[in-house]
Amino acid sequence: MEKPRKIGVFDSGVGGESVAKAIKKQLPEHDIIYVSDNKNVPYGSKTQAELKKLVMPIMQTLSRHVDVIVIACNTVSTLLVKEIRQEISTPIIALEPMVKPAAEQTKSGVVAVCATPATLGSERYQWLKQAYAKGVEVLEPDCSNWSQMIEANSIQKEHIHEQITTVCEKGADVIVLGCTHYHWIENIINEEAAGRAIVLQPEQPAIKQLNRVLAQLD
Ligand code: DGL
Repeated sequence: MEKPRKIGVFDSGVGGESVAKAIKKQLPEHDIIYVSDNKNVPYGSKTQAELKKLVMPIMQTLSRHVDVIVIACNTVSTLLVKEIRQEISTPIIALEPMVKPAAEQTKSGVVAVCATPATLGSERYQWLKQAYAKGVEVLEPDCSNWSQMIEANSIQKEHIHEQITTVCEKGADVIVLGCTHYHWIENIINEEAAGRAIVLQPEQPAIKQLNRVLAQLD
């Protein structure tokens, strides 16, 4: 059995809780410290400069209390992970949209990435598409109000249905959940996409990476 460690999991709101839950289930010997920025959620409509001001102090404090940090927020990962890594030395696992696996798994050559406006507009996300999805059509449905909808626990099934049906009709056979809030509506998206598209989300790859990092700690 591994030595118990402190794992910090961070998100703007409830999104990362799904990730923390999955980690706790698979690695029950470790302590999870979940931190969210409920006062400032949603992050997905904020600029990089606004996010930097909010997130850096949280990361600095968290890094003093944990052995490893999981940034369970695609928005923070895609906009800020470079700067965060420069400022803190705690190992970081950063969840970001699974563009590469989606491009590898599509048979139709069309994939859809559901993410916040900030993630979709980030340089890192543009880079992921350039690097891994050349020749693949990447659809980006409008999910701009999804994290608020999930925070408020008022799920508009109609809107989700509309977005998912549209991307499936355009030929997408892989749908990426590029925001951890959407993990809470994974079942709804899976039902809508059934038989037409598979749904990818990063919990399992993140836990694999977390295991590797934990094994390297002394
Ligand atoms: N859950 C976050 C993400 O993965 C942020 C959502 C938000 O605050 O808008 O992007």
